[in-house]
Amino acid sequence: MNALALSVLPRPMRLLQRYDDGEDARHFTFQLEDIRAEDAGMMPGQFFMLVLPGCGEAPFTYVSRPDDQGRFSALIRRMGKLTEALFELQPGEVLGYRGPFGQGWPRFYGKQRILAVAGGCGLAPLAGFIEDVARTRSGTHLQVIYGARHVGARVLSRERARWSGALPLIETLDQAGPGHRQGTPLAHFDTVFGQAPPDAVLCCGPEVLMEAAARECLGRGLRADQIWLSVERRMHCGVGLCGHCYVGDSYACRDGPTYRYDRYRELLRRSGCARELDRGELRHC
Ligand SMILES: Cc1cc2nc3c(=O)[nH]c(=O)nc-3n(C[C@H](O)[C@H](O)[C@H](O)COP(=O)(O)OP(=O)(O)OC[C@H]3O[C@@H](n4cnc5c(N)ncnc54)[C@H](O)[C@@H]3O)c2cc1C
Ligand code: FES
Repeated sequence: MNALALSVLPRPMRLLQRYDDGEDARHFTFQLEDIRAEDAGMMPGQFFMLVLPGCGEAPFTYVSRPDDQGRFSALIRRMGKLTEALFELQPGEVLGYRGPFGQGWPRFYGKQRILAVAGGCGLAPLAGFIEDVARTRSGTHLQVIYGARHVGARVLSRERARWSGALPLIETLDQAGPGHRQGTPLAHFDTVFGQAPPDAVLCCGPEVLMEAAARECLGRGLRADQIWLSVERRMHCGVGLCGHCYVGDSYACRDGPTYRYDRYRELLRRSGCARELDRGELRHC
């Protein structure tokens, strides 16, 4: 069987553990029963399709990559039919998996300064990248800004506690009480850019946040090819066959979900979305 045929066939995966981690969000640990070489090679920012018999499939990003036993984790927010059913599953139950799919975040080598900007559940696709830098101490200087609406809406509590000891992490809330920073992630760009401008910016969250963050970076002198976004589109096949996930004339499942900002703008512009781009209404493109 060829690689494409293999990638559309679900493999069995067992739910090992889960715990609540944020508002209507849960941290899940799964275990693949049939491990393949590509699982260990998964890049942070890639995604997998979770298959629930009777409910369908949906894409989710990895919080941690599959280990040598096939165990990995994901942060999943309750949204509709599939995630409602997933939240009802008990440890030990078997579901389906396809992946890994798409393009992950770029790799950085040497002493580069990277800024990661995340909003809400958008921290999940950046988690693997942050974890790699925090663990390997490769010389990359990573600064993270994480914004959420309020204290209870923050996700990945255990990971944030671990990262805060290893790298600079600014947490900020739209509605902050005493002892918390106030404002959107953009409110803290002065602090970060005042130290030294980053060499690259990775951004994931609501599309309005990503677009505003990218514009703010451009306004502060960064080039569009120094900025990366992770976009969310409706996905079905996950492998460039069904055409449900267009970004311009590219497939977000295959060519994304991470896009360099100059390429992303060009794709949208070519597909006639220049006006939406200027208004920050990219979801309609
Ligand atoms: C590449 C990628 C990675 C993702 N990673 C994660 C993750 O790590 N954690 C997580 O919680 N979610 C993630 N998502 C979103 C997740 O796939 C959806 O929330 C999921 O499909 C919901 O399924 P459902 O059947 O429970 O809800 P549905 O009934 O399908 O949807 C509930 C509501 O959400 C809207 N919706 C669902 N999916 C999308 C979408 N892709 N774009 C716009 N609106 C949508 C629907 O229109 C509806 O209003 C990711 C999406 C993509 C494309
Ligand atoms: S999800 Fe089918 S082409 Fe992208």
